Amino acid sequence: MTRTKNIAILGSTGSIGQSALEVVRSVPGLNVVAISGCNNLELLAKQAKEFSPQYIVAADSEVAAGFDFSGLADTEVLYGASELDRIAALPEVDIVLAAIVGIAGLPSTWAAVESGKTVALANKETLVVAGHLITDLASQSGATILPVDSEHSAVFQALKSGKDHEVARIVLTASGGPFREFNQEQLSTVTIEQALAHPTWDMGQKITIDSATMMNKALEVIEAKWLFSVGPQQIDVVIHPQSMVHSLVEFVDGSLVAQMSPPDMMLPIQYALTYPARVAGPSPKLDLTSAMNLEFFPPDLERFPALELGFDVARFGGSTGAVLNAANEAAVEAFLTQKISYTDIVTACREILDQHNFEPHPTLPQLIAADRWARQEMSKWMVA
Ligand SMILES: NC(=O)c1ccc[n+]([C@@H]2O[C@H](COP(=O)([O-])OP(=O)(O)OC[C@H]3O[C@@H](n4cnc5c(N)ncnc54)[C@H](OP(=O)(O)O)[C@@H]3O)[C@@H](O)[C@H]2O)c1
Repeated sequence: MTRTKNIAILGSTGSIGQSALEVVRSVPGLNVVAISGCNNLELLAKQAKEFSPQYIVAADSEVAAGFDFSGLADTEVLYGASELDRIAALPEVDIVLAAIVGIAGLPSTWAAVESGKTVALANKETLVVAGHLITDLASQSGATILPVDSEHSAVFQALKSGKDHEVARIVLTASGGPFREFNQEQLSTVTIEQALAHPTWDMGQKITIDSATMMNKALEVIEAKWLFSVGPQQIDVVIHPQSMVHSLVEFVDGSLVAQMSPPDMMLPIQYALTYPARVAGPSPKLDLTSAMNLEFFPPDLERFPALELGFDVARFGGSTGAVLNAANEAAVEAFLTQKISYTDIVTACREILDQHNFEPHPTLPQLIAADRWARQEMSKWMVA
């Protein structure tokens, strides 16, 4: 990299945020201007002491009330979700890493895109909910959206092997999660502990459950549609249990170009932060001298009905992404608090999506209303 890049890490206390700071520790030229957390304020304060950012944001003022942030000499402490939007648009920030989980990440991602930043996007939910608005906003503001999701980073890298019109299809890989070989009876008794035990990736709770149900892959299909301007018919999903090939692009001549590395988020985060440069960093390397198998299977749609939801939303667009995302967020929370079973998550999402009043060209307020409606429907679904 030729010059220092100033970065704001929104969601620095999460899994992606912590991996990003690990990258910053070893890659010269990345300067942390702002970080944020929500519930884990001890960690936020610890990060502030180590990285001395100009600002930290405690996103939930109520949680932060009474928390002692003293001892941060060069750092201003800001309180409340609206400060995230302000931080995302600061003139001194070059790159915003959007790493807040769920719809809570949408307003600050929006603010970053609106102010023309380079946005390293981990918060896929923003594109799932408002892909059409965010991509329009980026073309108006000149913002660049760089993928952080390992699959989309892999596709982004592989796409450099050809021209847009030479792309035949995008192949997203999925580990298959912990229940790849479970039958329906086993799936009906899945516990929270089993669902949180991902075989290859170490991630935050919500995305770990999404990976188990394969809702994560459904969301990624929608994310791929918006990031790469491809139709759902150009997107395929394959199960690849080793999580070494992070995704592939097939070109019209039949060449499949893949990106490979061990399952660790530091590499895609680093690539987004240093792009277009590639620099040495802390990510583990693949050892091709030790024996390894790379397997690929077609996904079992009966075992993983969530996948079809992703393709439906990618096909229909409009308000469907907001409804699916909200129903899923509410369902995952209900599962983690033992209010519904594991298999209920996708069943409820399908029912709520099918019932909703479709709006083909929703505005942001309409998307927020659709989100609220889907969460209310999920509450009703639980007591029905
Ligand atoms: N983890 C991965 O490997 C991975 C891979 C690809 C994509 N992603 C995507 O990256 C995003 C983050 O995932 P993650 O696994 O890092 O999640 P995570 O570990 O749960 O971290 C979420 C972050 O968001 C903050 N947060 C939570 N609720 C908030 C709210 N209402 N307002 C403001 N901040 C809030 C959390 O703060 P506190 O912890 O302080 O509460 C934390 O910093 C998700 O969109 C996920 O899909 C993650």
